[in-house]
Amino acid sequence: MNSIKIDLKNAGIVFSQETKKQAENACGLLHSEKGAGNDFLGWLNLPSEITDEHLLDIENTAQILQKECEIVVVAGIGGSYLGARAVIDALNNSFDLLQKERVFPVILYAGQNIGEDYLFELQQLLKNRKFGIISISKSGTTTEPALAFRLLREQLEQQQGKEAAKRLTVAVTDKARGALKSLADKEGYKSYIIEDNIGGRFSVLSPVGLLPIAVAGLNIRELVQGARVMQAQTSNEISFDENIAEQYAAVRNELYKSGKTIEVLANFHPKLHYVSEWWKQLYGESEGKENKGIFPAAVDFTTDLHSMGQYLQEGQRTLFESVISVEKPNYTTIFPIDEANLDGLNFLAGKRVDEVNKMAELGTMLAHVDGGVPNIKITLPALNEYYLGQLLYFFEKACGISGYILGVNPFNQPGVEAYKKNMFALLDKPGYEKESEEIRKRIK
Ligand code: PA5
Repeated sequence: MNSIKIDLKNAGIVFSQETKKQAENACGLLHSEKGAGNDFLGWLNLPSEITDEHLLDIENTAQILQKECEIVVVAGIGGSYLGARAVIDALNNSFDLLQKERVFPVILYAGQNIGEDYLFELQQLLKNRKFGIISISKSGTTTEPALAFRLLREQLEQQQGKEAAKRLTVAVTDKARGALKSLADKEGYKSYIIEDNIGGRFSVLSPVGLLPIAVAGLNIRELVQGARVMQAQTSNEISFDENIAEQYAAVRNELYKSGKTIEVLANFHPKLHYVSEWWKQLYGESEGKENKGIFPAAVDFTTDLHSMGQYLQEGQRTLFESVISVEKPNYTTIFPIDEANLDGLNFLAGKRVDEVNKMAELGTMLAHVDGGVPNIKITLPALNEYYLGQLLYFFEKACGISGYILGVNPFNQPGVEAYKKNMFALLDKPGYEKESEEIRKRIK
């Protein structure tokens, strides 16, 4: 089997022996479990540690939801939904909800925002439809998914009765703490544990990601297999010259040191939009701390060449671009000939749409490199579970290495608490009386 590849020849970086050593040391530090955040390394060997029984149990639960539900709503935010959405959106039909003959439930999302209109419209859509809920929250106390879950739970019980609601609700949460665990135990929901040593943004290969992905009808065994291969290919026993996670981590840090403080993850495949959203969280929350870190941004090409293209070509030269390229599309569409040729497009007749896309990709890379935007190219041989498993693990591994090279703890997220504290104070949450008083004085 093939593997994903990384091409750095347009990144404008020549690795010194010192840089290579630094990346190897950072990878070694991860594996030695002696670095910062070492109590959150459960993801590192997760692919090889997932058992067949565990996968089977997830598949069995998925089957119950598949059999009984037209729609399954995943209630979660950040690392508790982005990984699943990345894989499902990449591999499912783009027009899923409108497909007439569906085999598997449509996966929808809630609890990733606090939009009243969004929730109202979702609840309207779910009226009189058979649906199920996967409620995912490691802490079990995050406001956004908890709020959505209460609304959806009530609706499910009203529409389908308490017994069906119990059968069609699954909780994925911490083993002991948090309100979701207590609720799941009390109501008798099927539940899955997120191990203490797996942080949200590194949890896609745990039930957090695997259960929704399985419900969508995708092959979680292939996904895990891809990740296993990448786990082996990026281990600390693989030297820098062969280790693509170390290379990616090293090149981004070298570019950062040279003033390239923004990494733009670009794709030329619209189905990869949520892979970029997942990546943004992974790198943003892992590295953006202590006033350091590359700012992770993302664009979908060619769409965003018509909105961000100007800035990328000629704006501030603080950017570098990492492009995810998919070698072969899954389907074939040939551009037709038109005798009248009024649109002047006969020069494309007989070509695949993907050939046009690939020339746009190449043309963009050359233009951006000429414009002073270094380029990293990450190639997937095809868009399927196996290569996505490789890609997800590759990004996770490189993120851990990159965070250590940067000198931060990549596995905490202390900054995320600041908005929550203010929000709770403003909403008069019990226990926040002092903060409430202070914040009200400030906004008077
Ligand atoms: O990476 C993280 O830890 C966070 O982004 C969390 O995934 C996110 O805040 C959701 O937290 P929880 O799963 O506890 O509801």
